[in-house]
Order: sequence, then structure tokens, then C-alpha cells
Amino acid sequence: MNATFPLNPLIYTPDFEKVQDDEGETIKELVDTLQEIADITSKDYGRAVRSVHAKPHGLIRGKLTIHSDLPDFLKQGVFASEGTYPVVMRFSTSPGDIMSDSVSTPRGIAIKLMGVAGERLTGEPTSRTQDFLMVNGPAFLKPDAKSFVSGLKLLAKTTDKAEGLKRILSAALRGAERIIESVGGESPTIKSMGGHPETNILGETFFTQVPLLYGKYMAKFSLVPIATELTSLKDAPLEDGRENAIREAVSAFFKAHTAKWELRVQLCTDIETMPIEDASVVWPEDESPYVAVATVEAAPQVSWDDATSPQIEDRLTFSPWNGIQDHRPLGSVMRARRQVYESSSTFRKQFNGCPMAEVNALEEV
Ligand code: HEM
Repeated sequence: MNATFPLNPLIYTPDFEKVQDDEGETIKELVDTLQEIADITSKDYGRAVRSVHAKPHGLIRGKLTIHSDLPDFLKQGVFASEGTYPVVMRFSTSPGDIMSDSVSTPRGIAIKLMGVAGERLTGEPTSRTQDFLMVNGPAFLKPDAKSFVSGLKLLAKTTDKAEGLKRILSAALRGAERIIESVGGESPTIKSMGGHPETNILGETFFTQVPLLYGKYMAKFSLVPIATELTSLKDAPLEDGRENAIREAVSAFFKAHTAKWELRVQLCTDIETMPIEDASVVWPEDESPYVAVATVEAAPQVSWDDATSPQIEDRLTFSPWNGIQDHRPLGSVMRARRQVYESSSTFRKQFNGCPMAEVNALEEV
């Protein structure tokens, strides 16, 4: 902890959220478009996979420890009191179809804390988990759910097995991204279409991109590697052309090393510069820096096993709406995700004949 954290976080009031008149229709379009992707991939694979973030690169078991020296304003929700929670984490890349890692796209991590008490968001009284979903960029590529639909429809049209074309496109886009980065910028659109640099996922910093309640305040979260074994992997290139290069790199790491990350929060201190409804705005860190509230640690382990991991990840569902009221998702993109994740995971579980109930303990995974 240091003296730079914001002293005046804004207290949430419902006025900060503005529901658009046609939001219900937008959500239906999202659900239908994602179902189109799931219909194609489940036919191709004979098994239903996530309609985005389909490819897994590792399932990691670990623990999250809340920092003991938090100032009062950071003691909110799950972080209100000291404690350690078992966690399960799933690394993924963003497309809804499972391609070679040489088609390089943005990366995600989903974290599930287990044994969390508190009033639930979705009314499933037996669940005692809190999920945080993040990708490796500080803001979402579109301001709201409505402006995201057209891009998603385009993506749905490319969902098939024409991987050769995507591989060529990906290589070309990576070249374009390198040129843009060399002049000091980066393009989320190019990265999302396959132009992401082909680097080790373990060196990444991940962000929720969109805000959620932090008790009485509003915050974005990030997960930042702090073990030197992880930080040394920032931008580390992967062996080009290998089908499962990312999964292999994660497995190799967890054979020998312990991973350690910090979970950080960035509190909203000004609703103009840190809006709730425009998900594309990067909240300025000079106004409100990310501050650490917990440490996540994972000891050496088998991070992927072809014989058992696919069944385990079929059973797992992560959603920003799986959690407690103190961490309720906020804004247009987050509101849309409630129904979208529910539909996608219900389809998967029904298609694959998996139990529908939430996984509540590490022993179940
Ligand atoms: C309107 C915007 C979004 C839509 C429509 C959407 C949709 C989805 C869907 C349908 C799934 C698969 C759910 C399942 O079958 O279990 C998913 C997974 C995921 N999403 Fe989103 N998402 C959106 C925004 C975001 C954002 C802002 C983030 C994080 C910054 C994110 C991160 C993830 C991650 C990490 C997963 C994989 C979860 C897992 O490992 O099971 N998504 N998304």
C-alpha cells in the first residue's frame, strides 16, 4: 500500500446507470447470435463449447488471500475481512471456435472464489462462489452492448473450420499490429480478429474492463503477475505454428513453478472521466490508480490433462453475474452479460449432459 490511492471514491447511486430503451432487443440479438455460433461449433465438434472463449489453455487451482493491511474504504464485499479462499482459474482465448494458436487472439482468465458468504445476485441460494472474468486489455472494444452486436454478427459468420484463411489473416494482422505498436498505439479490433502477438499468456495483465460494485463504491479489477517467474514472461514469444502452443507453455510452467499475482481494484472517483455506461473508456490511472487488495497464488500442478480436463471445464460456468450483491456488475455491457452467459452455459450443459448445479468446492473440480 502507498499514499497514492484515491481518498474520495464515489458512492454508487442508481443514477449512474442509464438503461437504453431497446436494451431488451439488443440482448436478444446477442443471445441469438451467440447461439448461431454454438449451433455451428457443436455440430462441428459433436460437443458444445463456450460460444466465445472456447479454447482452454489450463485449469489452475490456487488460493486467494485478502491483504491484512487494507484501509477501511477498501474493506468492501468479499474484501471486507481478512481470509483465504480456494480458487479455480481457466485461461482461454476469445473466439468461439477452437483454432490453432497460430491464429492469435486476445486472452482471458476467469477466476472463481469458493466459500464466499453474502446475498446472492442471481437468487441461487446454494451457491457460495464469486467469479471475476478478465481479458488482457484495460477497456472493452465497444462502448455498449448495442454497438457490440454488429461486430459479433460478423464474427458469427466466420465461425467454421476455414482455419487456413484465418491463419493467413492472423499473420497479416499481427504484422499490422506490430507496425501500429511500433508507432506507439494498438488496435483492439485488429487484435480481436487474430492480430494479437503470439506471446506467453502467463506474462499478461488481465482486466475486468467493465465496472462492478465494490461494496458501496464502483471499481474495475485487474490481475497482475508479480512472481518474477511470471513477469519475466511478459511479451515472451511462443514457438510459432504449434497448435496448442499456449497450453503447452502453461503446462511447462506449472510443472516446476509457483505463480503469484496481485488482484487490484481501481475505484471510480469521477463519473465523467470514469463512466459506468461507456465500457470503451480506459479509466485514468493518474486520477485513480489500481491498488492491491489480495494475492492469488498457485503451486506447481498439472494444469491440463487431455483425459480429464475437458469434462471438468464442461461442468464449470463463469459469469460476472455469479456472485454476491456487493459485486453486482454495472453498465450496459454488464447488464447484457447476465442473460447471455446463462443461455450459453445452459446450452452447453444440456448438450453435453452435464449437471447444471454450480461447482462450489475445489474437490468438485
Ligand atoms: C456484451 C459483451 C460480452 C458478451 C456478449 C460476452 C459473452 C460471453 C459468453 C457467451 C461466454 C461463454 C459463457 C459460457 O458458455 O459459459 C463468455 C465467456 C467469457 N467472457 Fe465474455 N462476453 C462479453 C464481454 C466480456 C468482457 C467485458 C470480458 C472481460 C473483460 C469477458 C470475458 C470473458 C471470459 C474470460 C470468458 C471465459 C469464461 C470461462 O472461462 O468460462 N467477456 N463471454
